[in-house]
Amino acid sequence: MKITLIKGDGIGPEIADSVTEILYAAGVDIQWDVQTAGAEVAESEGSPLPQRVLDSVKQNKVALKTPVTTPIGKGFRSVNVQLRKELDLYANLRPCYNLPNIKTRYDNVDIVVVRENTEDLYAGIERKIDSDCAESIKRITRNASERIAEFAFDYAEKNNRKEVCVVTKANICKLSDGLFLESARNISKKHTGINFREILVDNCCMQLVQNPNQFDVLLLPNLYGDIVSDLCAGLIGGLGVAQGANIGENFAVFEPVHGSAPDIAGQNKANSTALLLSAVEMLNYINMPESAKRIKKALFDTLNSGIKTYDIGGNYLLTDYTKEIIARL
Ligand code: NAI
Repeated sequence: MKITLIKGDGIGPEIADSVTEILYAAGVDIQWDVQTAGAEVAESEGSPLPQRVLDSVKQNKVALKTPVTTPIGKGFRSVNVQLRKELDLYANLRPCYNLPNIKTRYDNVDIVVVRENTEDLYAGIERKIDSDCAESIKRITRNASERIAEFAFDYAEKNNRKEVCVVTKANICKLSDGLFLESARNISKKHTGINFREILVDNCCMQLVQNPNQFDVLLLPNLYGDIVSDLCAGLIGGLGVAQGANIGENFAVFEPVHGSAPDIAGQNKANSTALLLSAVEMLNYINMPESAKRIKKALFDTLNSGIKTYDIGGNYLLTDYTKEIIARL
């Protein structure tokens, strides 16, 4: 099977090598269509996300992606935002659960963040009023809100979840978040087997830090989803272990929550767990559950043996960590 591998920058190439080696060692029958993206590509090809990358995903339908640096303030539009928009990957799915032998403040965390992926402040509608004033438009539509709410409830039903909790700031953003909330309420009525709860985003953050075990599936607009999913990553050991997926009607791109980590790039110190768990979910998605199970078990056995990268309190270099996982397949 042919799958697009989008290699970004920073730690992207290192973690991509780690994960493709593990999948190869597990005998997974995938032929990678490798596509580079990011800052260097922009210099040579004029865009950080050339058309060839989009064409490849459109052809193969599924991609595994490593992070891409987005320069702050100026320059090109974020590759990630563009990719999600162009392929209409409207659902961002980020499961957060405790992994073996990673010390965290709470046990039994098992939260799934469902983030709307195409609009809100990420629609990129910004304008400069004058040199001292700028505006960003927060765009929320009923269609996109109902579609993501449907996705969250559908996910909850198919995965034996009990509750969907919609997270907004509808008390302040009465019209925009109000519409997101109203859409979630409407969709909840069709899914009576799943408990429906509402919470304001500030209170949600406090509750997540104090008592994360109360939450099951969280449903959020784009910006709150981005922020809250990093908070949830912190609950399970940090960005190095937080997996994710962008899913649409026709395409799916699996990628970790974290960015390109320029502070540790090229040092062989990155953790490939987040990308590996994203790849495991990709294998489930393409109907290779046995390989997914086998790789996940090898990963858990490795962590249980006390073998960890630096970000989670270990002293293993990425290449050694990769070898240890392969040895346990
Ligand atoms: P970041 O996620 O790259 O890094 C935050 C901190 O977590 C850093 O200390 C980093 O070393 C650590 N970290 C992240 N992933 C790790 C891993 N796999 N193993 C070990 N440590 C890890 O966030 P930051 O620094 O805010 O962003 C860097 C760049 O990445 C920016 O240009 C940003 O726009 C981009 N970015 C790209 C994303 C994507 O391509 N999906 C998502 C988020 C950010």
